[in-house]
Amino acid sequence: MDSIFDQVHERRHTDSQKWQKYAGQDILPMWVADMDFKAPEPVLQALHDRIDHGIFGYARPERGTIEAVLGMLQRNYDWAVEEEWLVWLPGLVVGLNITSRAFAEPGEKILTTTPIYPPFLLGPRFQNRSVTKAKMALDGDKWVIDWEAMEAAVDSQTRMFFFCNPHNPCARVFDRSELEAVAAFCQRHNLILCSDEIHCELLLDGRSHTPIATLSDEVSKNSFTLIAPSKTYNLAGLGCSLAIIPDKGLRHRFNSATRGIMAEVNNLGYTACEAAYRDGGPWREELLRYLGTNRDFIHSFVKERIPEIGIYQHEATYLSWMDVTAFDLSDPVAHFESHGVGLTDGAFFDSPGHVRLNFGCPRSTLKEGLERMEKAVDALR
Ligand SMILES: Cc1ncc(COP(=O)(O)O)c(C=O)c1O
Repeated sequence: MDSIFDQVHERRHTDSQKWQKYAGQDILPMWVADMDFKAPEPVLQALHDRIDHGIFGYARPERGTIEAVLGMLQRNYDWAVEEEWLVWLPGLVVGLNITSRAFAEPGEKILTTTPIYPPFLLGPRFQNRSVTKAKMALDGDKWVIDWEAMEAAVDSQTRMFFFCNPHNPCARVFDRSELEAVAAFCQRHNLILCSDEIHCELLLDGRSHTPIATLSDEVSKNSFTLIAPSKTYNLAGLGCSLAIIPDKGLRHRFNSATRGIMAEVNNLGYTACEAAYRDGGPWREELLRYLGTNRDFIHSFVKERIPEIGIYQHEATYLSWMDVTAFDLSDPVAHFESHGVGLTDGAFFDSPGHVRLNFGCPRSTLKEGLERMEKAVDALR
């Protein structure tokens, strides 16, 4: 075993949503976005210490927790965030719903690009706001924003743009010129910019992330950013996420929409967040190397053994977006499940004919999953 990430941990018979879905069936779960890795040792130690204290009353972040967040943003992105800009959330799905309520009236529109992480579409709908979709385009094997589609989709009823960078599921890291175009578009059409950057610490091949809010003071005032340690450090079940809202007026509107309905972050979430952002760096470096090799493994495997499946340039995240339109299946996920691998259906992302494979797992699991996909494809050849 070369890496700690090669270790296979038994997650069956635990509270894992990912593994419970196929309980009792021989189906490898490669769907929902959490990883089959243990959290970093310093996080586990901090949690043990916190539990040993034994009292779990209503929680607030401690000084050290706030400093860990601000320190990470300064260190990684040269972003001098002020403490009062931070709004703590029990999850970003909650954040997307709150955002929809806060910045659009019922019936008003929120624009996003598709394919997209499903809560971008569902959050506004659950809150009785409309969603307008602009399909992304392909530049070779790289997903890009289609500016003609964006201009055609926006109108006087559109209030916000939901942006995802790095992008789930397209695995893009938008470069500076693309970010500038997004910011200019929002300014031109008077849209508040909500930038979900939850995957910003999962960039592969040494790429670097630019928080869109750091482009200029103007962008910073007209936008807010959603982040969390959960994807990177595998802490999703602890429910600790953040909105960074520099503008006082926007922050007030956001906070007002949370009153009485938003749960608070729990003690363990704060503890894990602090330890992850402060001490998780070396673990993350190793994780990124491992995920990069997993991504390469997928690309070689698919190109050599299941070339009917289309794959794209993959710059970030542990989620691989795959085109299975060649098979013309009415339910591709059911077909792959019947051969022992559980993927996420592209239809949820407004993109039928695609599936998403979660490769945040040991290479042996990934290899097994891909071999099962090959068998599923063999059955259609
Ligand atoms: C883009 C994006 N935003 C938000 C979330 C979920 O965040 P949370 O677990 O904090 O609700 C995910 C999870 O996969 C995601 O990919």
